[in-house]
Amino acid sequence: MSALLEVRDLRVRYGHSVALDGVELEIGEGELVAVAGANGAGKSTLVNAVAGWSRGRVSVTGQVLLDGRDISASPAHRRSAQGVVLVPEGKGVFEQMTVDENLRLVRAPKDAVGKRYEVEDVYGLFPQLRDRTAARCSTLSGGERQMVAIARALRAAPRLLILDEPSVGLAPRLVVEVLQHVRELVHGGLSVLLVEQNVRATLDVADRLYLLEQGHVAGSGSADAMRDDDRIARAYLGGLSR
Ligand SMILES: Nc1ncnc2c1ncn2[C@@H]1O[C@H](COP(=O)(O)OP(=O)(O)OP(=O)(O)O)[C@@H](O)[C@H]1O
Ligand SMILES: [Mg+2]
Repeated sequence: MSALLEVRDLRVRYGHSVALDGVELEIGEGELVAVAGANGAGKSTLVNAVAGWSRGRVSVTGQVLLDGRDISASPAHRRSAQGVVLVPEGKGVFEQMTVDENLRLVRAPKDAVGKRYEVEDVYGLFPQLRDRTAARCSTLSGGERQMVAIARALRAAPRLLILDEPSVGLAPRLVVEVLQHVRELVHGGLSVLLVEQNVRATLDVADRLYLLEQGHVAGSGSADAMRDDDRIARAYLGGLSR
């Protein structure tokens, strides 16, 4: 099976400081791939580079291939039209607009390859949003807001949905709820690249996980294998015993 997305020798510098140092990564069709790592490891830098987003003065080299075709030179809006859709860290909704307005504002491009989600489809996936259609997003709970952010991204007809810390600031119960929703989307055929701090909850839903340390991939493997990886166990799961 050829990969839906492939990242080859990705290097990102902010001025003289190296944030990513030769990262290689692959995501298959219908796979949920997670990226974990400490604060500042380069997770957001990685997903921003995949989506073609830049924060400040940044130099990016290496290749990002979608269906084997190099999209490294495409701007973010082109990549999004091709199905690489990012929900950036801490963003993704217009706070002063209602849930419904947020969802209707996004439309899939005419030639979208990814699955199309009408507003009704999205409410079907996130029933609790249906009760809040007329609510301003500023009045939603953190979990509801994240669901709106994911729902908006779905409206763009993604093939690869990239989520940068969708559960940041959420209570543990809501983290699990948001991640379960993500897993259901993957059951429906979507591919997802998920950045998450909550490694324990992530390993329960992810197919594979990459561990990023100081801008390079320190380890990767199936969720089961990574659960037993010493570095993951020590740093994220509270010791080596389970
Ligand atoms: N716009 C920027 N200009 C300069 N340095 C930056 C910029 N964005 C990120 N960095 C630096 O690059 C490194 C990687 O940052 P990045 O935001 O990718 O980390 P992260 O793994 O997403 O961290 P977190 O878990 O805190 O979100 C950090 O050292 C950070 O300070
Ligand atoms: Mg980040």
